[in-house]
Parts: sequence; structure tokens; C-alpha cells
Amino acid sequence: MTTTFPVCDDRSLSQLALGLTGSEILKISGEIRVLAEAGHDICNLTVGDFSPKEFRIPQVLEGLIAEAFAKGETNYPPSDGTKELRQAVVRYYDDVLGLKYPLDSVLIAGGARPIIFSAYAAVVDPGDKVVYPIPSWNNNHYTYFMRGVPVEITVGPETNFLPTADLLRPHIRDARMICICTPLNPAGTVMAREEVERIARLVVEENERRAATGERALLILWDQVYWMLTFGASRHYSPPQLVPEVQPYTIFVDGISKAFAATGLRVGWTVAPPPITARMRDILGHVGAWAPRPEQIAVAKFLGMRSAIDDFHESMIRELQLRLDLLFDRIDAMRAEGLPIRAIAPQGAIYLSVQFDLIGRGAIKTNEQIRRLLLDDADFAVVPFQAFGLPNETGWFRLSVGAVSPAQIETGLARVRNVLARYA
Ligand SMILES: Cc1ncc(COP(=O)(O)O)c(C=O)c1O
Repeated sequence: MTTTFPVCDDRSLSQLALGLTGSEILKISGEIRVLAEAGHDICNLTVGDFSPKEFRIPQVLEGLIAEAFAKGETNYPPSDGTKELRQAVVRYYDDVLGLKYPLDSVLIAGGARPIIFSAYAAVVDPGDKVVYPIPSWNNNHYTYFMRGVPVEITVGPETNFLPTADLLRPHIRDARMICICTPLNPAGTVMAREEVERIARLVVEENERRAATGERALLILWDQVYWMLTFGASRHYSPPQLVPEVQPYTIFVDGISKAFAATGLRVGWTVAPPPITARMRDILGHVGAWAPRPEQIAVAKFLGMRSAIDDFHESMIRELQLRLDLLFDRIDAMRAEGLPIRAIAPQGAIYLSVQFDLIGRGAIKTNEQIRRLLLDDADFAVVPFQAFGLPNETGWFRLSVGAVSPAQIETGLARVRNVLARYA
């Protein structure tokens, strides 16, 4: 007999739980998994994840984790992370980004998500304004959690879906925090050096004004989880590298999930002003969202192995770029032929922005209709920018390449071509 829970209906749930919307991306990925299990050969470009068949974690890191397990390193880690890993992050930021931070700036957590959650919880009060571009990854959900007031800035292909200082300026006067991600999930684009510098100066100027009036500071949450993955001429920059005065206002979000194809290992970190880091640590201490101890010990050693990291990235970036370029080149060729599709050239992360320009053709009015059409008629699975908070029905989608082979891309695109030809 199945147990029923008569009192556990919606009335048992909190207002917070009832108002929360789940991840649209995970919902779509769940649907694709069911189709794949039913035997469909799907070109799955939905999840911001890696298939270990296509992208393995660095072998050296794998060995170091096994070693830590074998040594019995399985008890609680310190609540702010092992000292060795925090020191390794400090050294890595100094060596690679040229940024100097004290040890107290660094907090380790079980991935970048708890870092983002605790950053929001540490600085955003109910009613505080949080400014972020859309499309962007999950800022709407974190702002909701804090009962913050979202200030969403719609960005489009003309800025590669990235915000600019000019777009942010009108909204910062009474804002608590600006949230920026580069290289960008979902667009796969990278903010130019000059724009990073302009945004950094904007934040510094606003804080100079606030210092004079005694207002609380404007903070910037700088999500750079994809910073080690840039292609071609694109380079990653962060605000304090270009404008040192912005360092006291910058909260970095970072970790190994994307950088080392290690989404399942769960190691993330912040580098932030120490009083903020300390409160983030206290918040996460109650949640218990620590990174597993063997992984922390291994990553501490791995971050010190610059040539092993360089070797790994050389091959990882080559493989990512192969897939992204293949998608882009084929799509661009279809565009040149007059098919209703275009893409933005890949610059970083594991994504490509593609517009299936089908709105208004036949009976197609929504991105959801396009998504279904591609899935049903071409076994081609993609995520609409609506999943990143953008309400506009403009035909823009995120294509993620961490879980597909070049051959799957080729065959998937051939099927897409047939579908698009019907609408040309
Ligand atoms: C921009 C961005 N930040 C943070 C995260 C979270 O990473 P993690 O898997 O380390 O929690 C993701 C994951 O997709 C992401 O895309």
C-alpha cells in the first residue's frame, strides 16, 4: 500500500517555497533524458555540463583525489575551506591575474552556487535593488530568495548580450549590487577590456559619491566561473585588474566546475573583501555546503601545477573550440545560403548564441514552439533565452557543447537544415 500524506498539500509549504520557480534548464534537460532513454538519438546541446565521454577532468587531479581518499582524508573540512586550498587560490590569483589578496578574502564552498547564494545573503536585504542583465544565469532566483528588488536590464545581440557601463549607469544610484558574468552563460561571449574598465570606474565613482553621503556601498558580484575558457583573440579581464580602487567592492565567484570540466566534484570559491567573506562563511556554515575534503586537498595541489593546468587547458580549449567553431561555421554557411538562422562567433565558455529566425513564419509565434519543432523534427535539443530571464520571443537560444561529439553536431545540424529549408 502506498502511504499518503493528507496534510502535506500546498498549505504546508512556506510562501518562499511556493513562490520559487524551478530551473527551466533542468526541466528541459529532464525531458531530453527521457527521450534519450526511449531510444532517440538526440543532439543534446541543453546542459551547461560536460559528458565525461567528451571531457574528462584532468588526470592529475583525478590521481590527487584518489590519493587523498586513500590517506583517509574524509572528515569535515574547516568551514572556510582547507588552509592549503585558500592559500593556493591566493597564489593563483596573484600569479595568473596579478591580484593580491589576504588569506581571509577566500572562502571555499561546494561549487559556485553556494558562493553566489551566500554572497547574496551576506549583502542583500529585503527591498534592496539588485541590478543584472537579462539573459543571465539565475540572478532572478537568487534575488527572489533574498526578497530583493530585481532591476533587470535587457541586453541584445548588439552588445553580444553583455551589459555595458552606459546601460548600467541609469540604474545604479540606489542599487545594492550589480551582478555580471563574463565569459557569459548563456551567450558564450566575453566582455571587452575597455568595457570592464568602464564598469569598474562607474562603481568606484558611485562609491566615492556614497562615501561622502554615508550611504551603503555599491557592490559588484563578478561571476568568472568560465574565465579560464576563452578562444582566439578574446581575453578575460576582471575589474580590479584594471581599476585597483574597485577591489574593496568586488565579490568574485569562481571554482573548478567549468574550468576543469569538474561539475560533479563540487569545489568553488569566492575572493572578496574579508568582512563579506567572513559572513558568507558563517551563512554557509549553517547550510553545510562545504566542498568535499579529498577534492579540496587535491585542488590545492593541482592549482600549484601550472604546466599541468596549461596542458589540460590546451586540449580542453581545443576540443571546445572545435565543437563551437563547427556549429558556428555550419550555421553561418546556412545563413549565407538564406536560411533563417544566425549565430554570434564563439568567444568563451562552452556556449554559442544562435537565433532561429522563425518567429512570424508559418504559425510560429514563440521560442517554445521553435524549441519543440527542433526537438520533434530534428532531434536537436536547445535552451531558449527565456530560461535566462529574457521574456522576448526573439528566437535566440543557447547551444552548449560540453556533452556532444563533433559527429553528433554534424548529423544534428544536417537535420536542422532540413527543418529550416521548409521555412526559407
Ligand atoms: C555563470 C555560472 N555561475 C555559476 C555556476 C554554478 O557553478 P557550480 O556548478 O560550481 O555550482 C554556473 C553553472 O552553470 C554558471 O553557469
